[in-house]
Amino acid sequence: MSSENPISNSSLIQRPRRLRTNPALRSMVQETQLTVDDLIYPMFVMEGENQKVEISSMPGCYRYTLDLLLAEIKQVKELGINAIALFPLIPEAKKDDIGKESYNPDGLVQTTVKAIKQAVPEILVITDVALDPFSIHGHDGIVNDKGVILNDPTVEVLVKMAISQAEAGTDIVAPSDMMDGRVGAIRQALDAAGYFHVAILAYSAKYASSYYGPFRDALDSAPKFGDKKTYQMDAANAREALKEVALDIAEGADIVMVKPALAYMDIIYQIKSTTNLPVAAYNVSGEYAMIKAAAQQGWIDEKKVILETLTSMKRAGADLILTYFAKEVALMLH
Ligand code: PBG
Repeated sequence: MSSENPISNSSLIQRPRRLRTNPALRSMVQETQLTVDDLIYPMFVMEGENQKVEISSMPGCYRYTLDLLLAEIKQVKELGINAIALFPLIPEAKKDDIGKESYNPDGLVQTTVKAIKQAVPEILVITDVALDPFSIHGHDGIVNDKGVILNDPTVEVLVKMAISQAEAGTDIVAPSDMMDGRVGAIRQALDAAGYFHVAILAYSAKYASSYYGPFRDALDSAPKFGDKKTYQMDAANAREALKEVALDIAEGADIVMVKPALAYMDIIYQIKSTTNLPVAAYNVSGEYAMIKAAAQQGWIDEKKVILETLTSMKRAGADLILTYFAKEVALMLH
């Protein structure tokens, strides 16, 4: 006999617990499903051969030389992951004040994209469009002698970078720089050069966030002076995110992104309800590092926390999630 007597509570008609009785019922009424198809795996490439260096603030993530990167990408594809986002570590000697290396047809990104397209043609390649890994000062744009980040001259370089990535065979270009008007300029230039099929994943609502710290370690790209607050958004603003998204859509974005994800779930939710475009969320390096650190201490159940966190991002409205956990999640979902 159950210790709970239903008679004593007969006035209770709605009992939400009925649908939580067993796993079969729970999975029937589950509203959000996290699948491998939703995941994009950010990966770091560096010059050289036969090397793989773990990023100390991102345990389990590595910078790879091209040969080892290709082997890794084959495994990533075998796990069912459809897309990678590529970030380069540029040697100091190749950096300058306007990021010329970013549009070198034989540069690290361009060579890497070509090689990936040869070796693993089915994987989608997303390339980053921003100056920070290429510039001596670590900012996403060109800086004048007063330390001001110049918008329109930067957009000219970003356009060259996007075109050179398209020439190399990238599937999607992803401007992460937050300059005004760059999506429109890149779309026009891609079309004029015949790259109608190359899509734009716009970092539309990208916040000036302290959650990017470990990524900047990975690429050695932390700004040498000041911060990124004159181009990335203020964490306190939500309506401004909707304005940025509307502009990027008008300029031709195919997918809009919110970054970071975890502290910005309300932004993901609001953007999802105002656009029909796919919405991406970037589960950034600091979010990854926090979970890894707590798990290493034995303070949380890592696998469960990862799944709960990424499922919540989907529930908030993300269709796609860039995450350093992609491989681990793919293994868990298999
Ligand atoms: C730079 C860029 C950053 C990230 C992706 N592209 C760092 C920044 O804006 O300073 C961060 C990604 C992460 O933290 O995982 N254009």
